Amino acid sequence: PFILSIAGGGSTYTPGIVKSLMVRLADFPLAEIRLYDIDGERQSIIAPVVEKVIRDHSQNIKFTVTTDPEVAFSGAHFVFAQMRVGQYKMREQDEKIPLRHGVVGQETCGPGGLAYGLRTILPMVELCDFVERYAHQKAWIVNYSNPAAIVAEGVRRLRPNARVLNICDMPVAAMRNMGAILGVDRHKLEVDYFGLNHFGWFTRVLVDGEDRLPELRRHIAKFGLLTEDAAQTDPQHSDPSWVKTWRNIKPIMDNFPEYLPNPYLQYYLMPNEIVEHQNPDFTRANEVMDGREKKLFAAAEEYKKTGILPDAFHVGVHGAFIVDVACSLAFDLRQRHLVIVENKGAIANLPYDAMVEVPAYITSEGPEPVRMGAVPLFHQTLLMQQLASEQLLVEATIEGSYEKALQAFTLNRTVPTMQHAKAILDDMIEANRDYWPQL
Ligand code: G6P
Ligand code: MN
Repeated sequence: PFILSIAGGGSTYTPGIVKSLMVRLADFPLAEIRLYDIDGERQSIIAPVVEKVIRDHSQNIKFTVTTDPEVAFSGAHFVFAQMRVGQYKMREQDEKIPLRHGVVGQETCGPGGLAYGLRTILPMVELCDFVERYAHQKAWIVNYSNPAAIVAEGVRRLRPNARVLNICDMPVAAMRNMGAILGVDRHKLEVDYFGLNHFGWFTRVLVDGEDRLPELRRHIAKFGLLTEDAAQTDPQHSDPSWVKTWRNIKPIMDNFPEYLPNPYLQYYLMPNEIVEHQNPDFTRANEVMDGREKKLFAAAEEYKKTGILPDAFHVGVHGAFIVDVACSLAFDLRQRHLVIVENKGAIANLPYDAMVEVPAYITSEGPEPVRMGAVPLFHQTLLMQQLASEQLLVEATIEGSYEKALQAFTLNRTVPTMQHAKAILDDMIEANRDYWPQL
């Protein structure tokens, strides 16, 4: 049985991930679960909920809650990382500052993602070092921490030998919706996909060897990447704002019908329309704080008072996917999953060392990317520009370079002019004083 540590234990996602672990104990046996967070107060609110979830399934799993990295990681076999540096209050800034300048406000796409990257790279490297120092020699970090593309590139640059597998639940959430539309379980789909994290395209969707993409395309032309009644099995992704996100695939496919875009491409391909529909005073961060976070905190409070835990968190594809990936790493299952890996020729006309998102076979020594071949000039160009923006941001963080940060912001497709880039960057420097390296 494994020792598993969750870094970012105070996250609203922790109970859902732990629930996913509990229903898979036969596949992924656990001796101990440890929660680790730098915010001990927040973590202590979530921890009793997590403990209850564990005890409903097992009396034997040891449960530890700590803010001490040595306690958290000593001898650990797996670390699930889901840190949010600056918490939701800084996510709110990431979303609201660009909007003040008429630019997309999103936590991972555009200036918000770049700002979040500048906060997260060095803490993520610190986590790698803790794991290297204290954990089992062959420990794997499975990383959900955003902005995943930038974090992955930062870790590749600064800790090239760290055993980190960077993942995102967006492709698998898209596959869940595809499965729902086609009436097949998502595990039955075999997809081809190329791109960067939150910036890619599905090129084939095979079910029993048959490409069902044409059928999906017809459905999407009417309803977006959702079932007809938009009733999803995953409450997170069926909030009204998410329904809108899944629907917005439609205009992209109307214009560029050949592949199936990751929904996040809407921020880069139709930013004006996005900004028009965003409320600069109430963004997704506010929605999450008022919704998911409040509900979970209230449930924790209620549980403390009454001993009864209300149904306050969801178990979706997010938790199921990280457990799938961990199983494949643990037992060398060589399952095919969409993950973020060093390119190594998988996308023939992107740099060899770029961190790309493609299908890979997950072995106990890490991911083996599947060759997707060369991509068309249009997609290659979009990808190269986004990659350059992300790489310059990583260099800005490492070198403390204002100029490179400004280049990163200027190159981002969500940002119309150099002047916008500079104005947003300068506001963000102010807002991130406690978090960013000195630029
Ligand atoms: C998807 C993305 C994540 C992102 C999350 C935000 O799952 O893959 O990278 O963090 O959405 O969801 P939220 O409900 O917090 O807005
Ligand atoms: Mn993601």
